[in-house]
Amino acid sequence: MQNPIIVALDVPTAEQALKLAREVAPAVGAFKIGSELFTAAGPDIVQRVRDTGAAVFLDLKFHDIPNTVAKAVAAAVRLDVQMLTIHTCGGAEMMRGAEESAQQTALQSGRNAPLVLGVTVLTSHDSHTLSEIGCEANVGYQVERLAQLAVAAGLRGLVCSPLEIAALRQLLPEKVQLVTPGIRTGAEKADDQKRTLTPRQALDAGANWLVIGRPIYAAENPREAAERILNSLT
Ligand code: C5P
Repeated sequence: MQNPIIVALDVPTAEQALKLAREVAPAVGAFKIGSELFTAAGPDIVQRVRDTGAAVFLDLKFHDIPNTVAKAVAAAVRLDVQMLTIHTCGGAEMMRGAEESAQQTALQSGRNAPLVLGVTVLTSHDSHTLSEIGCEANVGYQVERLAQLAVAAGLRGLVCSPLEIAALRQLLPEKVQLVTPGIRTGAEKADDQKRTLTPRQALDAGANWLVIGRPIYAAENPREAAERILNSLT
């Protein structure tokens, strides 16, 4: 089994990120670099995290005109990331262009193409906030609609909430990779994640990758916390 744990490096500086990454790298499969760390530390942070031997998931959620997104994806491939995110509401042409750009740039750079993951409806949305921006569909319907559009456009993976995994697994081809945040073991303090699954439950429901932040980086001993989670999966 591949190690499905992706640790979210949700810390503000390169120093903190690298300290955490070096400490937990042997127990995890990948690290997620989001907008805060990337903006604060700059693109070099990708290679420095790659130097720990783990894969990098660049979570910048690109959403722009197709040409701009394709070029941003190409730049991310050249940084040597293994996973990256784009917004599915950018439309089919944008998603097709992103996937093609990932494949072509990887070929030119002699690398494997990264997994381009589609983000459907952010979990901060509900039907009220969707309606505010002119979308009258309920959240579940909109997630399924965007997920199907993403797969039809050639994407090989999606980010989804724990509660969407089962429905998307019914709907989508088996080979589509599902990446899910909102993972809690039950041992940590309550926080802003409301609808959660344990790591084992998320994999059983059909997730391929688990994005885990605070249960690892806020633990007293992050390495032990990651190892405990890994052991709970085997
Ligand atoms: O600390 P925690 O385990 O909640 O971190 C989860 C990570 O996944 C954070 O980087 C957060 O931004 C991200 N995420 C999320 N919920 C989503 C999408 C992404 O928690 N729906």
